[in-house]
Amino acid sequence: MSQPLPRHVAIIMDGNGRWAKAHKIKVALGHRKGVEALRAIIRESSDLGIEALSLYAFSTENWRRSPQEVAALMGLLLEYFTSEIDELDEKNVRIRILGDKDGMPDKQRAALINAEARTRDNTGLNLNLAINYGGRAELARAARLLAEKAVRGEIAPEDIGEDALANELYTAGLPDVDLLIRTSGEMRLSNFLLYQCAYAEFLFPETLWPDFGLEDYHAALAAFAGRDRRFGGRKA
Ligand code: FPP
Repeated sequence: MSQPLPRHVAIIMDGNGRWAKAHKIKVALGHRKGVEALRAIIRESSDLGIEALSLYAFSTENWRRSPQEVAALMGLLLEYFTSEIDELDEKNVRIRILGDKDGMPDKQRAALINAEARTRDNTGLNLNLAINYGGRAELARAARLLAEKAVRGEIAPEDIGEDALANELYTAGLPDVDLLIRTSGEMRLSNFLLYQCAYAEFLFPETLWPDFGLEDYHAALAAFAGRDRRFGGRKA
């Protein structure tokens, strides 16, 4: 595998709808196929020793889709957490949910809470699933948490800097995103990990998410390894 590997990979899994349309099947089946793709990428990330993998599974804006599509996605989420949790736990994967769990239906919320609690001491891949997530909402939440700490006298306003803010994000303790992949050729961040992507390398493969396989993933990792990262500095 090409070196250096990114420590933290983030993926916007786009194109399930177009994939379903191209195959003349219901969008729900496109999402189901998307879950298969996601399984393989999670397994490979774990096997490669990548530290963190963040996947955009459901944004705060996705509630605007048809009730049928939302129900299909909620069903898939529940199914995923029920069927995969044993294998993920065995693989020492630590699951974190990025997003507002309180805004989720009861069964899904319980499954998400259970997955986090069950895997919290695992030390392998940090698998972050962004569910009912928005980047601006995450930043507003972090500001609110800091303000509450300041009111309680636990932190002085002058001590609020980048580290203090990062510590209130859902990704607290994890490295910044090194590589962001958005499939399907769309070139947007769509409110995903706004703070954490400050110095991320971006890749926009044309492949629709259900077709994104290990070869595509390896190609993305090789492209990342070839990037010249300067973090605002200059190479000597
Ligand atoms: C984008 O495709 C994808 C989504 C909005 C959802 C991604 C969700 C999954 C892959 C499955 C659920 C996740 C888990 C963890 C079980 P799109 O529908 O926007 O595609 P389009 O732009 O072609 O319409």
